[in-house]
Amino acid sequence: MLNLRQKPCILVTGGAGFIGSHTVCELLDHDYDVVMIDDFYNAKPEVLDAIRTITKKDFVFEEGDCADRDFMDRIFREHTIDAVIHFAGYKAVGESVAKPLMYYRNNLDTTLTLLETMKKHGCHNLVFSSSATVYAYSEKMPLYESNPLGTTNPYGETKRMIERILTDVSHADPEDSFICLRYFNPVGAHPSGLIGEDPNGIPNNLMPFIVKVATGKIAKLRVFGNDYDTPDGTGMRDYIHVVDLAKAHLLALNYAFKRTGIDYINVGTGNGTSVLEMVESFRRVNHVDVPYEIVGRRPGDLAKVWADTSYAKKTLGFTAEKTIDDMCRDAYNYGVKHMK
Ligand code: WQD
Repeated sequence: MLNLRQKPCILVTGGAGFIGSHTVCELLDHDYDVVMIDDFYNAKPEVLDAIRTITKKDFVFEEGDCADRDFMDRIFREHTIDAVIHFAGYKAVGESVAKPLMYYRNNLDTTLTLLETMKKHGCHNLVFSSSATVYAYSEKMPLYESNPLGTTNPYGETKRMIERILTDVSHADPEDSFICLRYFNPVGAHPSGLIGEDPNGIPNNLMPFIVKVATGKIAKLRVFGNDYDTPDGTGMRDYIHVVDLAKAHLLALNYAFKRTGIDYINVGTGNGTSVLEMVESFRRVNHVDVPYEIVGRRPGDLAKVWADTSYAKKTLGFTAEKTIDDMCRDAYNYGVKHMK
């Protein structure tokens, strides 16, 4: 439960990353104190000043690794942390298949050290960056929080294992209040164009790949299969604007402060959009071409994935507001400024 101090202080691990940086902006805009930690494994230092420019507010930043016990102990000694939003973790599906040990070691160690440090310093509130990849394969859409879990790659398995760790830890301590947010497909960028998604190297995900094609960095988009059981044959996903997703984290914090125990909540729009629909929207709103060719299916891809969003509405009062056009416009606006 929240103590009586005026401005809650929130520790954001991995706060310089894609979703973390947008969430820090929302926290600062809503007058929270923020302590951000990041090791810049998958983020760039210039994000820090971009956040300060966007919000005209400052925050505490500490460069370090959440798995470093002494580092984390110092953070909790020097700051009164009311809640943690835990983004820090490796998140590339393909990389996790090639380097499973690196994923299990990093994603679990960071979380276990964080939880032990929270326990030691009497911090009981946590929002965890989980993922729809924890759900087992299902033909039927939408996916509900009650759907069975089951993963097909080490990255997704680390998310499922962390949810289990949080479940057991919260069952052992009645004061704990943990919220697992199961993201669907976060895309887009801050409307300012100062922060966004800028993966290292060749993007795996659809939207940053489209941006690189539209900005001439890559010749054409490969559409992974058009023989799926969908209206236009291409894969459908529940894309959610990263600013909507950031707002969901603040609602999850308020929900965590008001209760105890653990909960698991989908964060999506409830709508499925196909690859070709995304390409069409991108071309239309940005007045750019996105050359593509249809190639074979990508191993492991599903035809359709989208969320049931009724529980997020019931528990958090959350409904995504931004459209696919907003996602395409903001992603391109960021890409032309930043993507190399
Ligand atoms: C979306 C659609 C592809 C690239 C991944 C992670 C998941 C989560 C979100 C963290 C699919 C098609 C893609 C391309 C294409 N991340 N596509 N050409 O696979 O739904 O989910 O990101 O939690 O864990 O697995 O997202 O953007 O890779 O693919 O045709 O070059 O776009 O086949 O239908 P995905 P994606």
